[in-house]
Amino acid sequence: MKITVVGLGYIGLPTAAMLAESGHEVVGYDVDKRLIATLASGRADFAEHGVREIAQRALASGRLHPSPMPYPAEAFVICVPTPTIDHRPDLRAVESAFASVGPLVQEGNLVILESTVPPGTTAAVAKKTFLPLGIDLDGIHLAHCPERVLPGKIVEELLWNDRIVGGRRTIDAEMARTVYATFARGEIHVTDLVTAETVKIVENAYRDVNIAFANELAVLSEALGIDAWEAIRLANCHPRVDILSPGPGVGGHCIPVDPQFLADANPFASELIQTARRVNERMPHLVVRLARNLVPTGGTRRKVALLGAAYKPDVDDARETPALAIERLLSDAGYDVVAYDPLVTNYGGNVVADLEAAARDADLLILVTDHAVIRDLDPERVGRLVRSRLLLDTRNAMDLDRWNAAGFDVHVVGRGLARGASLAGAA
Ligand SMILES: NC(=O)c1ccc[n+]([C@@H]2O[C@H](COP(=O)([O-])OP(=O)(O)OC[C@H]3O[C@@H](n4cnc5c(N)ncnc54)[C@H](O)[C@@H]3O)[C@@H](O)[C@H]2O)c1
Repeated sequence: MKITVVGLGYIGLPTAAMLAESGHEVVGYDVDKRLIATLASGRADFAEHGVREIAQRALASGRLHPSPMPYPAEAFVICVPTPTIDHRPDLRAVESAFASVGPLVQEGNLVILESTVPPGTTAAVAKKTFLPLGIDLDGIHLAHCPERVLPGKIVEELLWNDRIVGGRRTIDAEMARTVYATFARGEIHVTDLVTAETVKIVENAYRDVNIAFANELAVLSEALGIDAWEAIRLANCHPRVDILSPGPGVGGHCIPVDPQFLADANPFASELIQTARRVNERMPHLVVRLARNLVPTGGTRRKVALLGAAYKPDVDDARETPALAIERLLSDAGYDVVAYDPLVTNYGGNVVADLEAAARDADLLILVTDHAVIRDLDPERVGRLVRSRLLLDTRNAMDLDRWNAAGFDVHVVGRGLARGASLAGAA
């Protein structure tokens, strides 16, 4: 097929490459002209190795054409961002992506929205786009196929994950299924548009609630005098319990954002979802409270080095990362803050790829992201750089024995914290 993919970000680029590798002729359109120029030169500056490889292979094959404008095609696949503003969905990119392909769509074409959206969006935006152009929705095929891959494993999960394919009519879903079936090896589940839209955000709301529960256990661990990590590990030995992990907060483009698409449908009927959001949004404040207890400013400037800026390990993605909230809160409280992250360049905060620049003369290290390169740091080397051998581990990621042996005083969020440094005090 001739396919135009709209939006070549974390999702669109690997999807376009996968479609091209499966033999389709793919135009990849993006409003970011610099990105298009880079891709046109055959380069894909994508941190995730597998994605970089498949994208560069697809570009070299000549079946993936980056373009600063959309082209007519038999199928259009829309993968543009869907953030929130003030906790409400911002659908402007989806509307403008539909508007850009609207005039190109012909009878019998298939339009697939992959972006995560509030239930009802695909049909509403399609009507708003196509009806004024005189295009009857019965004359085209309309589908929503939410993307559910995990950054860090994008290529593997594009291939092997089950997919949900929702159609305006069954025939629309079946058309979309044939496109994904050219590369997807997981099962393809066919449903209607609004169910497909809902399933995706239900998955992420479920994870947000689960993480909030783990975070609440971390805070409660002090009152209980227990190690929340060990309690969760043992509880998870039960076959019907699966609690996620505490941490410094929840980041990324999906989990902190998507639950708000559900809550927005009826704020009065979504207390659990909203409470979970608040619990998770409070975690950076609790981490900072803890840091301030460990290293009070006391009139002198203190330096805090964040280990990691990405929102999760081994990716370059720092969208909605709790590291930024932690940095800003500490800066407001008068600390000098620098984050060490060799993967992240675009952060919005003060990030460096040089460990020495970050850790030198630091009064406190806070582990925010458990990148492999950070877990593998040599505590002896780090110890020679810092002013105080003090580490606050928000992810229980560091090898305590090694860091203790190197003279570090290590505090782990969720492990009944000591010496007056309290999480719960800030709750
Ligand atoms: N990143 C993830 O892990 C992930 C996982 C599952 C689902 N999703 C969903 O997939 C969608 C895309 O997310 P992403 O992470 O790929 O976003 P992204 O920000 O990485 O990429 C989006 C791309 O779309 C381009 N763009 C924006 N508006 C455009 C327009 N009108 N026309 C053409 N191009 C446009 C941007 O320039 C950018 O390159 C979102 O709805 C997101 O929630 C993301």
